[in-house]
Amino acid sequence: MVTVNSIEELFEVTKLFNGSVGFVPTMGALHEGHLSLIQQARRENDFVVVSIFVNPTQFLEGEDLEAYPKKEKADAKICELAGVDILFIPTIEMMYERDELKITAPSIRGFILEGTKRPGHFDGMLQVVMKLLNLIAYNKPKSFRAYFGKKDAQQLVLITQMVKNYFINVEIIPCPIIRDSDGLALSSRNIYLSKEERVKALALSRSLKRASELVMQKEFDVSTIQKEMLKVLIEIEVEYVALVNHQFQALKYIELNNTIILVAGRVGRTRLIDNLWI
Ligand code: PAJ
Repeated sequence: MVTVNSIEELFEVTKLFNGSVGFVPTMGALHEGHLSLIQQARRENDFVVVSIFVNPTQFLEGEDLEAYPKKEKADAKICELAGVDILFIPTIEMMYERDELKITAPSIRGFILEGTKRPGHFDGMLQVVMKLLNLIAYNKPKSFRAYFGKKDAQQLVLITQMVKNYFINVEIIPCPIIRDSDGLALSSRNIYLSKEERVKALALSRSLKRASELVMQKEFDVSTIQKEMLKVLIEIEVEYVALVNHQFQALKYIELNNTIILVAGRVGRTRLIDNLWI
């Protein structure tokens, strides 16, 4: 594995790619969720690139940009063991100039749910993903795939739309959500949780399990499912419980194979999200 800290060096090493390229963008503090993306990229491509960049433009004032966990040594080890070819770790100065052209998330899909709770977050996220896709594919690989977790469902849908709207030559691969054995979806932010909070946080995945039980019992009414989920979420400061189709349009009734059930809330000072695709 080669660790690359400059764009010039990245262009040099990616010149040597004579096959398919799989790319996994991350903000570091890697866990099994990230690892599953990397492993899938490894299985499906000749070359694998992982980036670690804590992107300032997707953090809002007062969010955890400064405190975001950093584990560069452990991350590098994880990548090396997983057979990553290039680990790209740029600096903010390399990635941004002062007065930049901006990307704005689309008005409906970009400004509901996470978009309302974190205004501007998706603009910054799309901006950096566009940059990273262009950087990694700069030398025009034979085929180019980028891997994203369903954990961040709205992010995944918006990136897929950006690629379509801007005709970017990349295949976006959605990857399943990886959970701890107790059901908690893995997240770099889980380390902020105290022992007690971690137990409380389990209500998120339990509420989704409850929703899937109801759907299996043929309860398709969205408001009934939301009410039942809120009962499970009683100890959590819920931000939203939403049921949307894969285009992020609100639903009145569950559409099988075209529904995402999303939940977001705070446990103590930590904001957590989870979802289920049915
Ligand atoms: P980060 O939070 O580091 O996540 C990197 C990738 O890992 C994302 O595609 C995310 O959906 C995926 N991921 C995180 N937890 C997961 C889990 N439990 N199961 C499956 N996949 C999981 O998302 C970002 O970084 C940034 O917004 C980024 C796309 C890198 C742009 O800055």
